[in-house]
Amino acid sequence: MKFLTVLGARPQFIKAAPVSRELRKNHEELIIHTGQHYDKNMSDIFFEELHIPKPDFHLGIGSASHGKQTGEMLSKIEEIILQEKPDYLLVYGDTNSTLAGALAAAKLHVPVVHIEAGLRSFNKKMPEEINRIMTDHVSEYLFCPTDTAVNNLTDENMTHNVINVGDVMYDAVEYNRQIAESNSNILDTFGLNSKEYHLITVHRAENTDDPEKISDILAAFSKIEEVKVWPMHPRTKHVIERLNLSLDSIPNLMIVEPVGYLDMLKLESNAKKILTDSGGVQKEAYFMEVPCVTLREQTEWVETLDSEANILVGTDKEKILAAVRKDVSPVYKNLFGDANAAGKIAKHFN
Ligand code: UD1
Ligand code: UDP
Repeated sequence: MKFLTVLGARPQFIKAAPVSRELRKNHEELIIHTGQHYDKNMSDIFFEELHIPKPDFHLGIGSASHGKQTGEMLSKIEEIILQEKPDYLLVYGDTNSTLAGALAAAKLHVPVVHIEAGLRSFNKKMPEEINRIMTDHVSEYLFCPTDTAVNNLTDENMTHNVINVGDVMYDAVEYNRQIAESNSNILDTFGLNSKEYHLITVHRAENTDDPEKISDILAAFSKIEEVKVWPMHPRTKHVIERLNLSLDSIPNLMIVEPVGYLDMLKLESNAKKILTDSGGVQKEAYFMEVPCVTLREQTEWVETLDSEANILVGTDKEKILAAVRKDVSPVYKNLFGDANAAGKIAKHFN
């Protein structure tokens, strides 16, 4: 079979690593990189570190408004589908690159394979929620990471080719966690001691695009004394600069550039707590058994909330502080499969 895979954003490169490895054992795969993420530390570094095959097509779309970015991707992906005539088009997650790929293929009657299907926040103000609903509804194969995701699709009357294979991000973590532990020197580089710092990531549009919310988050951080390491997403960096927000009142804060995946795994596994609004980082905190505080009002990863492994706090300063200070004793369960989601997906097409 011939697969055409559309990638564009950081978490998609990470998800593609295990899947491409498995898929290419028996199938042909061509990769389109839309160029949605383009900084070296948001894109190339992952291809290099994770040995992801080099993209066959690079669309170089870059940053733009939702309509312009998605529209330009749609038109260019359509051309490539017409030229390459794939048997399947493969997309991951819920970015604008996901939606563009899915829509282009569905209109040309190329079956869409959606990996990480069925997630819902039930908040249509999130661009990701629109992208995932649209993508799920035009997909032929819906590979879900959890039972919750399967149930979400059932509730929307989608049951055909809806399969819980487990989470491909769990595959990626299991494959790389030892490599990260031995190869990453990031703790020494940043002068960090294991379990003596909190790790922060913030990039979600619902937080960064609302001056009040991003200010509230920073106000909460200013009351946290522990060392805090924050690999800052370029979106957030631009917002903080544009709004002229000061980080000077935040004690013991290390703002660093986005790091590679292996360094990120090492930072996560050695953190005391993880404060994030990222989907992927919430799950990785769970896989690493590091307590997580989620700076959002909803999460798609509801199973991580059990026994306070993850505490959902939104952007309320007092809630953030209470969760960071809370002594939790989570019970971690095996909720995300057996770290062979990619193998199961590939096997489906053998
Ligand atoms: C996108 C996804 C989001 C995902 C995130 C992963 C959509 C709608 N959103 O959000 O679901 O969680 O990727 O990180 O698809 N920028 C750079 N350099 C880059 C990339 C981005 O400077 O390499 C800056 C630009 O100012 C850009 C902004 O970040 O405007 C936002 O980038 P964009 O890809 O539109 O959205 P993300 O916030 O990255
Ligand atoms: N990540 C990384 N370096 C960083 C921040 C995140 O490698 O500086 C990884 C992280 O480990 C996870 C993925 O990027 O695998 C999550 O991506 P992101 O938070 O950008 O998007 P989301 O998962 O929210 O869509």
